[in-house]
Amino acid sequence: MLSAAYSAGLYGIEGFPVVVECNQKNSLEGFELVGLPDLAVREAKERVRTACYNSGYPFPFSRITVNLAPADRKKEGSAFDAAILTAIFHSSGVIRRDVSLQGRCIVGELSLSGDLRGVRGILCMCVAAKENGFTEFYAPVENAVEAAAVEGIRVYAVPNMRALVMHLNGEAPLEPVRNEKTFLEGNNAYTEDFIDVRGQTMAKRAMEIAAAGGHNILLIGPPGTGKSMLAKRLPSILPPLTFSEAIETTKIHSVAGTLPAGTSLLSVRPFRAPHHTMSPVSLVGGGVNPLPGEVSLADNGVLFLDELPEFPKQVTDALRQPLEDRRVTITRANGRVTFPCSFMLVGAMNPCRCGYFGHPTHPCTCKAGDVKRYISRISGPMLDRMDIQIELPSLRYEEISSRDEHAEPSAVIRERVTRAREFARRRMEGSGRAVYCNAQLDAAGIHAFCTPDAEASALLAAAYDRMGLSARGYDRILRVARTIADLDGSEQIRAPHVAEAIQLRSLDRKYWG
Ligand SMILES: Nc1ncnc2c1ncn2[C@@H]1O[C@H](COP(=O)(O)OP(=O)(O)OP(=O)(O)O)[C@@H](O)[C@H]1O
Ligand SMILES: [Mg+2]
Repeated sequence: MLSAAYSAGLYGIEGFPVVVECNQKNSLEGFELVGLPDLAVREAKERVRTACYNSGYPFPFSRITVNLAPADRKKEGSAFDAAILTAIFHSSGVIRRDVSLQGRCIVGELSLSGDLRGVRGILCMCVAAKENGFTEFYAPVENAVEAAAVEGIRVYAVPNMRALVMHLNGEAPLEPVRNEKTFLEGNNAYTEDFIDVRGQTMAKRAMEIAAAGGHNILLIGPPGTGKSMLAKRLPSILPPLTFSEAIETTKIHSVAGTLPAGTSLLSVRPFRAPHHTMSPVSLVGGGVNPLPGEVSLADNGVLFLDELPEFPKQVTDALRQPLEDRRVTITRANGRVTFPCSFMLVGAMNPCRCGYFGHPTHPCTCKAGDVKRYISRISGPMLDRMDIQIELPSLRYEEISSRDEHAEPSAVIRERVTRAREFARRRMEGSGRAVYCNAQLDAAGIHAFCTPDAEASALLAAAYDRMGLSARGYDRILRVARTIADLDGSEQIRAPHVAEAIQLRSLDRKYWG
């Protein structure tokens, strides 16, 4: 008897439908599986056969051929197990022959006992199933909530093969998993708030500007001044995560297997802070079965590199291309995989190895040459990508000891940031450019949108000579000035905007000059 069940495969962050055909012939016993890589076939056959026995069904005594189509797409992993056994059950009559498997997508690995085990990328597969016209999606209990984020398809949480058989036969129907709307409820609720950061008015303002323009930012200062604190709170002042951003970022985390248990959709912007001992591959992604790296896990959120000078050069160099392209393409023999990686970069560092160079009271124990050497570990190209650099001085006693009356909660700052982005978006929309924030403006964009008025121009000209700016530094100041004007609701870039932008760049000269 011939039967077909349906499943889904995963390629990068995209799912695709897979047909599992099964044919049984009443001749000598045998089990053949085609359409998977050799090793995967051997393992899948063992799991399927044993899971069948342990679910309380005899494995058919006949010649079984299972084919996974399409043959030309590489299918990896163990997510097809449940669909393979379903097809076998259907062709042997354990699942009634008059039950239709059409429109039902079944995904899950089988344990030897017949339980369905969670797999990576369920959300991507469920999205693909819905797009391909499936109306029901069967997922392991562990992952079902993740799949339930997709609307317009019924999702069932399947504990084991026996439950699946009884459901399909209509003997003990499963209840569909309710779409909990977790996204809307928990949306953009951050646990860490700007209001907790005392003092550091300049740095907070710099973070707001960075958020408004999508500018990368470098924080420099002695230990314990709030650099890590501020970086961690940046996602909370970025514009609210939209539904489509949430889907994209959740897909990446679904593939990487980094979604917290029971999460259907990420509802907050990611904050990733990888350690400096990580490899370039774990930063940008890769591997035989390509997995997203930290830059993609930070998609639509923040990548924080703490102790920036400690990162090896090959790691920071690997950052340059993803920063520019906002996606990473990994090439493998069987094709290419692309992971999005649109993130804001925050770097933090002490001004020297001991941390106290330039401190008003705490003496610095580094030798003069050592300070220079430490600082220069931030390469020119890296420094170039930091539109904003800001110093966090140590707090005065009054600042730490008393409550800051004027400290604003993140929600208030986020409102201003969102308004500024909207202001910028409207301006760029008319131009037909694929630019989402000011940080992405190229030379032509700067020419088109960042024209300072006469007074601002004069100020820039003076600064250009006095600060010994490069052409690139000049562009950067204009981009940041554009953002400051946007926060101000001003179409024109005026002198105060330029003046503030120049200040946000002056550390360049102090430390690297
Ligand atoms: N501006 C601040 N407002 C409130 N608390 C602060 C501030 N700065 C530092 N702290 C306190 O000090 C702790 C350490 O701060 P944080 O980790 O941000 O320092 P850092 O600048 O990153 O230091 P390091 O250079 O050692 O990494 C915080 O957990 C907080 O309790
Ligand atoms: Mg820190």
